[in-house]
Amino acid sequence: MDAVERALRHEDVAAVIIETIPATYGFIAPRADYLPRIKALCERHGALYIADEVQTGLGRTGHLWGVSAWGVEPDILVTAKGFSGGLYPIAATVLSASAGAWLAENGWGHVSGFGGAEVGCALAQRVLEICSNPANLAHALHISDYFAAGFADIQQRHPYLRRVHRLGLVMGLEFDSPRGGVDMMKALYDIGLWAIFAGFNSSILQVKPGFLIDTRYCDEALERFQDAIRVAERQPKRPPIRLVSGGRSTSGSL
Ligand SMILES: Cc1ncc(COP(=O)(O)O)c(C=O)c1O
Repeated sequence: MDAVERALRHEDVAAVIIETIPATYGFIAPRADYLPRIKALCERHGALYIADEVQTGLGRTGHLWGVSAWGVEPDILVTAKGFSGGLYPIAATVLSASAGAWLAENGWGHVSGFGGAEVGCALAQRVLEICSNPANLAHALHISDYFAAGFADIQQRHPYLRRVHRLGLVMGLEFDSPRGGVDMMKALYDIGLWAIFAGFNSSILQVKPGFLIDTRYCDEALERFQDAIRVAERQPKRPPIRLVSGGRSTSGSL
């Protein structure tokens, strides 16, 4: 927090952009006061708070936008990926009334060759309806608890699964090996389940199941997780993957 304060105190920073729960860090949720304190520092020093909700938005945390779980109202919010319903590409930068006031003065202030995406807008509107439906949000939390119970059960037999980080369906599985996330990714891939390790903590596997899955799907996924753990826990412990900017690995290939 001191580092953020030092960066902002000269009042020459336009905005702080922050992922609500960083995916490449393994979906470890920030502690309760972290995001509210950053928002307060932004307000004090005249910087905008931009929430990157590409991973944490659209209901998966049990809130339409993950940042709401911390009671923070961002000035700008970014959404993409699932916003498209997986059918037609669209991403959006959403501005609060005050951050977007300049658009009312000059609607041509920001134009984009492929902006607009009429088909994408129709889809995104439906996605927003589905993802803000209270019954669907409650379902996401129910499925999250179902997974948590399944993982706890697996953990009894396989302490290799060290910890489950979780806010709704945004989950990070931490393994007892510096490259556990990588070994699990490979073992799961081999049996038809896709999940990616966390680039900045290769002991963690990012797990973000679909928003509308049912418990039958969960049972099948849990079975595969267990099968994959049986394979991964036998892998030799290798040093962690270290990423540098640009995403290149400094400690050899995967
Ligand atoms: C947290 C986060 N923000 C932004 C992006 C960019 O999303 P897109 O390429 O769909 O615009 C990604 C892509 O992986 C992401 O994970």
